[in-house]
Amino acid sequence: SITRHYKFDIQLQNVTRLCQTKSIVTVNGQFPGPRIVAREGDQLLIKVINHVQNNISIHWHGIRQLRTGWADGPAYVTQCPIQTGHSYVYNFTIVGQRGTLWWHAHISWLRSTVYGPLIILPKLGVPYPFTKPYKAVPIIFGEWWNADPEAVISQALQTGGGPNVSDAYTLNGLPGPLYNCSAKDAFKLKVEAGKTYLLRLINAALNDELFFSIANHTLKVVEADAVYVKPFETHTILIAPGQTTNVLLKTKPSFPNATFFLTARPYVTGLGTFDNSTVAGILEYEFPPNTKTLKMKKLPLFKPNLPALNDTSFATKFNDKLRSLNNAQFPANVPKKVDKRFFFTVGLGTNPCSQHNQTCQGPNGTMFAASINNISFAMPNTALLQSHFSGQSNGVYTPDFPTNPIIPFNYTGVPPNDTMVSNGTKLVVLPFNTSVELVMQDTSILGAESHPLHLHGFNFFVVGQGFGNFDRNKDPAKFNLVDPVERNTVGVPSGGWVAIRFLADNPGVWFMHCHLEIHTSWGLKMAWVVLDGKLPNQKLLPPPADLPKC
Ligand code: C2O
Repeated sequence: SITRHYKFDIQLQNVTRLCQTKSIVTVNGQFPGPRIVAREGDQLLIKVINHVQNNISIHWHGIRQLRTGWADGPAYVTQCPIQTGHSYVYNFTIVGQRGTLWWHAHISWLRSTVYGPLIILPKLGVPYPFTKPYKAVPIIFGEWWNADPEAVISQALQTGGGPNVSDAYTLNGLPGPLYNCSAKDAFKLKVEAGKTYLLRLINAALNDELFFSIANHTLKVVEADAVYVKPFETHTILIAPGQTTNVLLKTKPSFPNATFFLTARPYVTGLGTFDNSTVAGILEYEFPPNTKTLKMKKLPLFKPNLPALNDTSFATKFNDKLRSLNNAQFPANVPKKVDKRFFFTVGLGTNPCSQHNQTCQGPNGTMFAASINNISFAMPNTALLQSHFSGQSNGVYTPDFPTNPIIPFNYTGVPPNDTMVSNGTKLVVLPFNTSVELVMQDTSILGAESHPLHLHGFNFFVVGQGFGNFDRNKDPAKFNLVDPVERNTVGVPSGGWVAIRFLADNPGVWFMHCHLEIHTSWGLKMAWVVLDGKLPNQKLLPPPADLPKC
């Protein structure tokens, strides 16, 4: 293992998309941001220097951060943001992980432009458990607003209404030729015939789960959220914001006399407030030698068929196919006994129109709010981890997050008029090594979308999922404790539930939230405190000297 140094200069950059030029916040002037590459076991030292007016913090999405919560990144959870003119070195070691992850800004909506791939190669000499790829290519999905996304979210929060949808989806930062004024801005994947490519797919979009497909080609899924899975073939993959998926693409045995679209568009179970346009890139085969004349001809371009926007049956089947590899080398260590059970309702609701705001633009003159167990999480103005470490939780948070919903929820019944959402900075406190089972039930009182729930600091096993009400007496008998997929972000299906298990073996304060950014902004978030264990190597490390102050 080695130590790798990176420098992230947070700076403005002019970028033109859809015929409009605007100044955006970037890392090193790049959009999408630079690629971080390391090996399992390496230490990373990433110096982030803030040259812009916005406060910033960066999260290394999916990195376990064992005992190094100070480097996790969510603003006001594990650190105060890095202020203008200041810097902070994120210092962490990659333990027991390899695969595709990513990094993104973790404050307000800055992740709309501040994001990039984080690639962990296996230890030197350790092969992949699948065909060695000829080349690996990261493909990162995003969203583009012609307006300033910071203005979009602050307006939504002030008025209590929904934010404007983005103007385009992007593929490696490019909207592609199906959008107006974007013909030249297409990502081109250039391949050779008869080879295997590893595509590292990352969904960095803010608010949409996406289908992705390549015309006339099959994809073999081999990894999800940087954990190997049992390989399976599919024409289309489904990927939620926050998730990463590695697929193998086997190219045609010989030059196909055609080019192919790679396209992505949203999977939305809700009621169509979403943009339904499609981002496209182009899969282009290299010409075989001595075919100069071929280049003169225009090759036919094939387009894939993506599932319908609301194809829940495809989505359910796809998620069912994801299983841990669970072999001798990569066993699935599913917690078999459970110390603590939690049942969380997650969903959208409303808050009464606030006093200072006479024109609430949410449903029936209210303000949108999102909650877990009827609590809409209020961010503190100092970092939770520091309060925890100093033993001064008083006044910053309370350790009384409800283990069950405040009002019992019945999906089949009439939704309650009052969802009794209240604001609070409530946390769950877990002793070290608690084995946790968490069932998350979507309430779908307003809108109806899957919620991609992301847990910081851990991977969890997705032991069960279903539609309708979770049945505490019947459903656990059907849990898969053998080869459930292990990941860090899982969709709570619209009108259904998902059950996860994890071992709380990482001391610190760990954020959990919906990775639909608007739902996080509305309060669909909470945090777990994991206490230190008894042994010296079971304790949170002390904070670094340069940890930002609020
Ligand atoms: Cu990828 Cu808390 O986020």
